[in-house]
Amino acid sequence: MTLKLIVWRQAAPGKPGRFETYTAKNITEHHSFLEMLDVVNEDLIKEGKPPIVFDHDCREGICGVCSQVINGVPHGGQERTTVCQLHMRKFKDGDTIYIEPWRARAFPILKDLMVDRGALDKIIQAGGYISAHTGGAPDANAIPVPRPNAEYSMDAAECIGCGACVAGCPNGAAMLFTGAKVSQFAALPQGQVEAAERVANMLQAMQDCGFGNCTNHYECQAACPKGIDVKFIARLNREYLKALF
Ligand code: SF4
Ligand code: FES
Repeated sequence: MTLKLIVWRQAAPGKPGRFETYTAKNITEHHSFLEMLDVVNEDLIKEGKPPIVFDHDCREGICGVCSQVINGVPHGGQERTTVCQLHMRKFKDGDTIYIEPWRARAFPILKDLMVDRGALDKIIQAGGYISAHTGGAPDANAIPVPRPNAEYSMDAAECIGCGACVAGCPNGAAMLFTGAKVSQFAALPQGQVEAAERVANMLQAMQDCGFGNCTNHYECQAACPKGIDVKFIARLNREYLKALF
């Protein structure tokens, strides 16, 4: 396959960016999207040009850093798929593909397609933990957790912190991410000790970082590669109301 790529290039934070056009040659349907960019970058390096900078780590849909907006959709729009797991068989010879970084006030662009998603870490640092005595390992099942609660918590814990929910939201809201993180603890007995301060602190951190608020567009759920449900935003709001009394 030969493809036309229209890619956002930006030299540094705060610098003006622009779209540049590249040709991706010798791409097979078996290449992943990131491998396709690797091929393009090899050609750019051979020509003495700067390669396209993009974030990647696990390339297995686990770490959440492969943040790219492809043809206007975070992670490319294939259901429950991160960019690293998107394959070129989704495209056809001659296609034009637009590639941009996450666009959100809380995620400043560092270079080309790479953004600083440290704001999500600040939300976690504000409350994404439980109190636990260290020492000898406790017995398994020392604190019984009903099966439905465990499953609900695991569904919320599927969030990999990629930030696609923010990039997809017209308000730049991080409420799906924050809702998932609050809900995963709220459903477990171990999460009760700091429950009230957790939700208050995480919501405060969310606002301090410059994220917007949810107005029920559901774009976060549509963009999420892990299928995180907006019911966790409702749980976030309920936990916050409970924390007020
Ligand atoms: S809720 Fe989904 S889209 Fe948002 S950070 Fe978590 S995994 Fe990514
Ligand atoms: S590189 Fe880790 S999820 Fe894509």
